[in-house]
Amino acid sequence: MTSPGTVALLGTGLLGKAVAQRLQTTGHRVLAYNRTREKALPLVPLGVRIVESPWQALAGSGCVLLLLADMQAIQAVLLEPRCREELSGRTVIQMGTIGSDQSLDLERQVERAGGRYLEAPVLGSIAEALAGTLLAMVGATEEQFLRWKPLLQSLASDPRLIGPVGSASALKLALNSLIAAEIAAFSLALGLVQRSSVPVKDFMHVLEASALYAPMFQKKLPRLLAHDYRNPNFSTAHLLKDVELFLAAARRLGLECSSAEGIRPLLLKALSRNLHDADYASLFEVVNPPIDERNP
Ligand SMILES: NC(=O)c1ccc[n+]([C@@H]2O[C@H](COP(=O)([O-])OP(=O)(O)OC[C@H]3O[C@@H](n4cnc5c(N)ncnc54)[C@H](OP(=O)(O)O)[C@@H]3O)[C@@H](O)[C@H]2O)c1
Repeated sequence: MTSPGTVALLGTGLLGKAVAQRLQTTGHRVLAYNRTREKALPLVPLGVRIVESPWQALAGSGCVLLLLADMQAIQAVLLEPRCREELSGRTVIQMGTIGSDQSLDLERQVERAGGRYLEAPVLGSIAEALAGTLLAMVGATEEQFLRWKPLLQSLASDPRLIGPVGSASALKLALNSLIAAEIAAFSLALGLVQRSSVPVKDFMHVLEASALYAPMFQKKLPRLLAHDYRNPNFSTAHLLKDVELFLAAARRLGLECSSAEGIRPLLLKALSRNLHDADYASLFEVVNPPIDERNP
């Protein structure tokens, strides 16, 4: 039975788990589903209820947050036949990163099943989700935005209405293309600095004082210096997904994409080195391979 104040959440991966924790600790009741149930179990002591199937999460709530990997996962979880039956009268809020075309297609499918749909992709990661400081970009009607703003404010202090469904997804992809460009450029610059025996502290000192600086550089530097990509915030595989989604959208819009195209093979190479689930800063290992690898 639907209970007011209860939020269904599908997908307790890196981001979904943090979102579930934040919602539960800010007074919501969370009913969560994850394909691999064991991965959701650490949420139980916080009061999150874990269900066996996605439809059970929907059945107990008026709204469902999607924190699934990609469109394929959404198809397998939200759009499986039993779950589809539960969509009538419910609102789906899509928070993962998918393409605008995929989001519009999902909206059509949800509405066909009698549900309502908005997109709210986010910038920020585990720490920001736990602190409620994600940057949420909303694609919705104004009415839907106002209806769900209080819930989104538990996760993002200032959710922003961007435009209709599709527009926030496009903005999110544009921003993630900057993540890819920044980590690729920073990795290459740091590699040159290290191989030229320039002290890294001098590199960072000048960089931080310049207009070129992005806070992400300082954030990722310890991982790069230690070659440590464990306990990821955001995986290499998902950055590849987002670069591919960006490229597909940008090509359709007639943009010349060769700079972004250059990053894709680097990410593919990282995946071939088993860095799939590693933090995306692992791109540094491809850009800056061990010396003996370059001169076998
Ligand atoms: N992490 C971040 O900082 C961050 C920030 C902004 C946006 N995002 C976006 O948010 C989404 C989730 O990211 P994440 O980092 O939490 O990813 P993640 O840790 O890889 O979690 C992915 C989730 O999707 C599920 N899943 C994957 N494939 C599935 C399938 N075929 N069928 C059913 N379930 C499937 C996983 O279930 P299992 O546990 O069973 O594998 C897991 O619950 C992605 O679109 C990502 O790009 C992430």
